[in-house]
Amino acid sequence: MTRIGIIVGSSGPNRDSEQVAGWVLEHASRRDDAAFELIDLRDFSLPHFDEQFPPAFGKYQNEHTKRWASTIASFDGFVIVTPEYNHSIPGVLKNAIDYLYAEWANKSVGFVSYGMAGGVRAVEHLRTVSGNLHLAEVRQQVTLHLMTEFEDLTVFKPGAYNLEALDAMLDQVVAWSAALTPLRATPAVSAS
Ligand SMILES: Cc1cc2nc3c(=O)[nH]c(=O)nc-3n(C[C@H](O)[C@H](O)[C@H](O)COP(=O)(O)O)c2cc1C
Repeated sequence: MTRIGIIVGSSGPNRDSEQVAGWVLEHASRRDDAAFELIDLRDFSLPHFDEQFPPAFGKYQNEHTKRWASTIASFDGFVIVTPEYNHSIPGVLKNAIDYLYAEWANKSVGFVSYGMAGGVRAVEHLRTVSGNLHLAEVRQQVTLHLMTEFEDLTVFKPGAYNLEALDAMLDQVVAWSAALTPLRATPAVSAS
């Protein structure tokens, strides 16, 4: 069965990403076309990038990198849940993405973002980053406005209308993740 990892993209105390990722998981788990699981960056405690070689060389030295790599390698596709920080993504998320290379390739990704403008600027950055990693980003996305989908900017209370966008995004991620399976059978993608 296609395995989709839902990445919890921020790590601060009382982070909203946990509530949002929980909502994604709860809804996605009702589907029978893929298996969904949370990937919490907090569980990996990755330091600031400290590998000796660029990840595209595939010569990981550190145990924390190998553990992160084997987790990401075990999924066929991803949903990234991210807040917007300074019109981009949280540093902790970018750091975690930067650690790896081949493990992201020829898989699919969809985005769920939140912020004062729905987190759309963060997702535009993520699309550029994904492209460099051969990670196929789907068009549909879920954009959650802090003023309307969160009570007092903190308690996540999403309107039911968001489910249509979530379903459309999940449809695409599952379909593309499955469709790209043959490409993942061939090992390396060029780093150039
Ligand atoms: C360092 C930092 C920068 C932020 N910059 C933006 C921003 O540029 N645009 C925006 O809409 N919200 C911004 N915010 C607000 C966050 O998007 C909002 O607080 C969000 O709920 C945080 O998610 P989290 O609790 O999962 O970290 C920023 C918050 C932080 C902590």
